[in-house]
Amino acid sequence: MLNKRSLAQAPQRPLPKKLHIKTFGCQMNAYDSERMAEALEPQGYALTEDPAEADLVILNTCHIREKAAEKVYSELGRMRLVKESRRSEGRDTLIAVAGCVAQAEGAEIMARARVVDIVVGPQSYHRLPDLVAEASATGRGVVATDFPAEAKFAHLPERPRGKVQISAFVTVQEGCDKFCTFCVVPYTRGAEFSRAPSEIVAEVERLAGHGTREITLLGQNVNAYHGAGPDGRPWTLARLLRRLAEVPSIERLRYTTSHPLDMDEELIRLHGDAPKLMPYLHLPFQSGSDRMLKAMNRKHTAPEYEAVIGRVREARPDIALSTDIIVGFPGETDKDFEATLALAARARFAQAFSFMYSARAGTPAASLDGQVPEEVKRQRLHAVQSVLDGDRHAFDRATVGRRLKVLFERQGRKPGQIAGRSPYLQAVHVEGPEKLIGQIAAVDILATSPNSLTGVIKSGFEWREPVQAAV
Ligand code: SAH
Ligand code: SF4
Ligand code: F3S
Repeated sequence: MLNKRSLAQAPQRPLPKKLHIKTFGCQMNAYDSERMAEALEPQGYALTEDPAEADLVILNTCHIREKAAEKVYSELGRMRLVKESRRSEGRDTLIAVAGCVAQAEGAEIMARARVVDIVVGPQSYHRLPDLVAEASATGRGVVATDFPAEAKFAHLPERPRGKVQISAFVTVQEGCDKFCTFCVVPYTRGAEFSRAPSEIVAEVERLAGHGTREITLLGQNVNAYHGAGPDGRPWTLARLLRRLAEVPSIERLRYTTSHPLDMDEELIRLHGDAPKLMPYLHLPFQSGSDRMLKAMNRKHTAPEYEAVIGRVREARPDIALSTDIIVGFPGETDKDFEATLALAARARFAQAFSFMYSARAGTPAASLDGQVPEEVKRQRLHAVQSVLDGDRHAFDRATVGRRLKVLFERQGRKPGQIAGRSPYLQAVHVEGPEKLIGQIAAVDILATSPNSLTGVIKSGFEWREPVQAAV
């Protein structure tokens, strides 16, 4: 086993080691997992899909609902077996719990699951190389769940280091100050924070130089973005998007998740003006009942939400709208729920995510009276999902017969097939050559299936060499 001293004296090239990361939760966790792998790469860690051959396993966890948080403990049970079987072969495995469960339950995890060597929160993972060295040198568990004053981004290696990502995430805003009464995010991710535009532009330019064609800007409330520009004055998300649209080989821009309160006119107008900004907007409404919205501390009413989506549709009539909905929030009556159903039906979402309310310890809603029985929540979930599914299929069917630009990202399920995304984020499968991966081609949409579209590449489409970014 390496001790601290031998690490400090290690030659430039460390011993090759294997790293397995399992990611739960939102896209920001997916981004964090990539950056953790990059932070550990200089220590000699290469990724593996197989936990049984890993010297270090990281579980990047999610705390948003009870089910998500429970997954970490069942996964740790599996990891204990892996660790024991490797130990019997004389090999060591370090187990790290990262992400939002780590932040929320750090000390508890250490006490409850002895298999864990490292607990690291979402704002501390740039310290992973040191934490790994400390855990292997001392053999004792280490916990890093503070919100350090220095920003993690300044301490992470430059991206990208790994394989080409045709479509890449870039976190631009993190944390949340809104404190919706049901939500753990302000506690697990900390206060709202925006990265500087210069740092983001540099990251996007490097990704572009490495083959990335599409960027999705991430934030818990990405449209609250207010990073300090070169003159110290804050940039809005719209201004940042306009700047990123100037990066030559970036052809598509997206952003998620947005809050209705932060959907300003500049951003709405941009949907009509900026061809690189894709016609897709994820805008959670949670409930159609003003009484529930107030109890949730969403700070807007249902009519205000509908006014926002009305303005977005005026700016970009074909926009695909997506949303999040919670059913069974404490005190929700049949009448409140009907208002949710009615709003969903009026809005005609192209995509939607609906959840049964899950009481989270420490959040204000968990101690409210009027907790809704599980069975009622389940019925309401089914009811709202049948409206949402119908609208999603209707949106997909309406694209049959249209010609859509598709960015191809990977091979398809069958040999000879390639797959990509439409501007509306629909998965599209076609017969086509692999060399089109990384390219945008016009596709005539022929049919829909439950989760994707199929089509044919417009005849006469000519393949061209990718444009190289000037970086
Ligand atoms: N910042 C985003 C949402 C981030 S969390 C926003 O404000 O819109 C993603 C989604 O998880 C939320 O939109 C909500 O629908 C759901 N969610 C969050 N906490 C939940 C809880 N305690 N129970 C059920 N669903 C929850
Ligand atoms: Fe959670 Fe509300 Fe913040 Fe979204 S806005 S992350 S739901 S507290
Ligand atoms: Fe889950 Fe944390 Fe994302 S709680 S949804 S991983 S911000």
